[in-house]
Amino acid sequence: ATANIGVVGLAVMGSNLARNLASREGNTVAVFNRSRSKTDELIEAHPEAEFVPAFSYEQFAASLTKPRTAVIMVKAGRPTDAVIDSLIEVFEPGDIIVDGGNALFTDTIRREKAVRETGINFVGAGISGGEEGALNGPSIMPGGSDESWVTLGPILRSIAAVAEGEPCVTHVGHDGAGHFVKMVHNGIEYADMQLIAEAYDLIRRGTGKTPAEIAEVFAEWNRGELESYLIEITAEVLRQTDAATGQPLVDVILDQAGAKGTGAWTVQTALSLGVPVSGIAEATFARSLSSHPEQREVSTGLPGPAEGLQVEDPDAFIEDVRLALYASKIVAYSQGFDEIRAGAAEYDWTIDLGAVSKIWRAGCIIRAQFLNRIADAYDAQPDLPVLLTAPYFVEALGRAQAAWRRIVSTSAHSGIPAPAFSSSLAYYDGLRAERLPAALIQGQRDFFGAHTYKRIDKPGTFHTLWSGDRTEIEAEDTH
Ligand code: 6PG
Repeated sequence: ATANIGVVGLAVMGSNLARNLASREGNTVAVFNRSRSKTDELIEAHPEAEFVPAFSYEQFAASLTKPRTAVIMVKAGRPTDAVIDSLIEVFEPGDIIVDGGNALFTDTIRREKAVRETGINFVGAGISGGEEGALNGPSIMPGGSDESWVTLGPILRSIAAVAEGEPCVTHVGHDGAGHFVKMVHNGIEYADMQLIAEAYDLIRRGTGKTPAEIAEVFAEWNRGELESYLIEITAEVLRQTDAATGQPLVDVILDQAGAKGTGAWTVQTALSLGVPVSGIAEATFARSLSSHPEQREVSTGLPGPAEGLQVEDPDAFIEDVRLALYASKIVAYSQGFDEIRAGAAEYDWTIDLGAVSKIWRAGCIIRAQFLNRIADAYDAQPDLPVLLTAPYFVEALGRAQAAWRRIVSTSAHSGIPAPAFSSSLAYYDGLRAERLPAALIQGQRDFFGAHTYKRIDKPGTFHTLWSGDRTEIEAEDTH
């Protein structure tokens, strides 16, 4: 046995991760794929890499030094279970199986428990950065046991992206913690993308600029506080001309957004945890709305406002959009971190939120300057209950809020959908409110279902005898 790490599943992500591993000093990489051709292709295309090809699970296990460590890079769901079952057959107690796919964290919790029974370690690791990240340095979010981290830590540190000298990987927490954090990363990714799309739409409809001209706006924004990978690639996409028609590419792409499910998982999980991730939810629903052509077709004739968007000062308008985007982005991240905090409490994970923000600074899809500010906020106050109340964000929101409000009202007034902008603002105002109409909802619940309420002026739980003489009585707490 000569390989210190193995990769199972040699589609693009798996091959690139294997190449990344092989390119780092000290690693020898065993590679295995269900069909032999992918393994042969990889070996042939990369003679420079020190791969140890295996053509059966037995061979794969035999080529790995102990504790054997293998990263699975196959489709989430049944294919992952099938590979785990095969590896368990040939691995021994103390060995480590890493699932590097986008698994649902509850599957990871289940698998970790089942695999642990055999004495083998199972680590669910979120890996972000797409194909390029896998090859040159992804952001890695591993869960699993402390024991497996001892072996895995140095290997993952060797291949992760580096931000300000620090590798973008940390032991996030036990069992499913890594995949949970990766799920929320993707939810934030959805929100960020939707916000950028809304900004583009408003600028286009408000100023009449061409996609190529708007690309310059995004390129400019990328030099400021919005600097991020997603803003950078937005400029690239908007600049692209379609070879077949000569049109901007964005104008010939069908406007129906796909989704593989991680955004929906983030929202479903948040709903069960009771965490209001409204920006992420709107972003996910906006993709759903776009993808129902039959509904959109029968709806285009619905009445809209008499006047479209009228912009007098395009530069001022664009600056307003930029500020609305920045403020809404702060909300999206704040909501995402809230979900991680709530998930950690629910599943008994110790998650260092500052460390999470640091490993997102490079390698991953949501990488941005901005993550440094989040890291600062958690450095200053690790148990910060609401991220956006950190001084830096309070200042930024204060600076942005007037523009944010103008953009949300302008979009409503002119009939341009900006669901993520407007729901983020509503969340912000909801948080700020000293009193919420939730009091009325409690009254309604008590009226029709005797669900009881609490009072602001004394402890205890109360019920009004609505169908009797309407006096108030003390009651059992039913929530
Ligand atoms: C990443 C990406 C990656 C994948 C998304 C795409 O972090 O590298 O998030 O995991 O590209 O899952 O998601 P949708 O297909 O749902 O947009």
